[in-house]
Amino acid sequence: MLARKLNDSDENGDASIAPMYSCRQLREPVPRYELPAGQMAPRAAYQIIHDELNLDGNPSLNLASFVTTWMEPEADQLIAENLRVNFIDHAEYPQSAEIEQRCIRMLADLFNAPGETTGARTQGSSEAIMLGALSLKWKWRARRETAGKSTDRPNLVFGGDVHVVWEKFCRYFDVEARIVPLKPDKYTIGAEDIEPHIDENTIGVAAVLGTTFTGHADDIRGMNDYLVTLKHDSDLDVPLHVDAASGGFVWPFLYPESEWDFRLEQVHSINVSGHKFGLVYPGVGWLVFRDKSDLPEDLVFYENYLGKRDATFTLNFSTGSAMVLAQYYNFARLGHAGYRYVMETFKYNSRALSEEIAAIGEFELIGRDDEEQLPLVAFKLNGEQAYDEFDVAAQLSADRGWMVPAYTLPPDAEHVKIMRVLVKASLGHSLTVTLGEDIANACAALKVKGGMHESDRKRVKTSSAY
Ligand SMILES: Cc1ncc(COP(=O)(O)O)c(C=O)c1O
Repeated sequence: MLARKLNDSDENGDASIAPMYSCRQLREPVPRYELPAGQMAPRAAYQIIHDELNLDGNPSLNLASFVTTWMEPEADQLIAENLRVNFIDHAEYPQSAEIEQRCIRMLADLFNAPGETTGARTQGSSEAIMLGALSLKWKWRARRETAGKSTDRPNLVFGGDVHVVWEKFCRYFDVEARIVPLKPDKYTIGAEDIEPHIDENTIGVAAVLGTTFTGHADDIRGMNDYLVTLKHDSDLDVPLHVDAASGGFVWPFLYPESEWDFRLEQVHSINVSGHKFGLVYPGVGWLVFRDKSDLPEDLVFYENYLGKRDATFTLNFSTGSAMVLAQYYNFARLGHAGYRYVMETFKYNSRALSEEIAAIGEFELIGRDDEEQLPLVAFKLNGEQAYDEFDVAAQLSADRGWMVPAYTLPPDAEHVKIMRVLVKASLGHSLTVTLGEDIANACAALKVKGGMHESDRKRVKTSSAY
């Protein structure tokens, strides 16, 4: 009787009047394989999807990701107001296009570009790196063609500490990846590491400011100096691209004296993720050139779109303008002083967390106090325990829902297992203390019961790439 009633399309089945959680759609499977034949009320559709997403992790507990999980309410409002604006319609939305240009100019200034230059808004650092590396390839090819030399075998030199996007670029765009292996006890690279790999077919060298693995920087000054010497001693003029995906919004505020940007002669292009320490939600990155001439003219597409001549340098076409506007909001709202204050807070809290973790007595911190580093804590177990970093991460997730990744470093440091906590806006001082206690409790539990079962370890994020 009850079943018959529930299946009836009576007033209980009408989602517009039924009490929430008693409408017909809540008794039916959700659409999974094909577009449903009929409609459902907006309230029911919202509730079903909203509830299903409760199974996702809580972004504020996601300490694996570099990506912003909180913005100010005014930024949220600006984003909501502009979700319907297609950024690529420059002619229709000229003010959004103007704001993009302001952001590029401010970043060029922040990165000490010597004069007026150019750049691009992208979906993130991955797109910015693809475009930056394509520019390196195009420029190299033009140089070789002018010299009447072969353009068959371009290569790109970078360390094993780069993000996977660099290898992706090489595979997608037919460039030999010359990857310098890490050393068993050194997780960044310098001039002496790249030197043996560079030749006349090298389109460029990529250096990282704030690696995904430990948050440290390659020796960018050392690489630059080597490339400058090479340029003077031979006819090899090899440009340096700095992948500042995370570091580009950290170094200028925490380490303003440290030279890694266009102050260095061979640095020709820089990418940065607005959605990491630029403090914007996912969906915005930037590419900035040293000089307008670093962007090859034939990578820019001029087209007649919706009646106006427009120039684009992107891999995508349609995309939202909301995150560009959110980036500009942060620039206008925070300025130098605000970004510095935010970064100092993150750094302060990451120091507090590292003290908590060191006090447990089971871990070794990766990096010294006086080293330049992203606001994060990277650490590993310091002895022979009956459990490993993956167990600690799984126990933490099971106990409290913290998402802390555990992963191994790239070759030749693949024997090193690391855990890493990103310290961002939602990890204030008191939560760093709580997290420290939770890590200590996780170790205590593992000491009693031994390592986690293989199936529990599946919960752990085992990649550093976020
Ligand atoms: C050093 C580095 N480069 C590139 C990327 C890719 O950036 P995005 O996620 O903005 O595409 C990341 C992401 O973590 C990174 O850490």
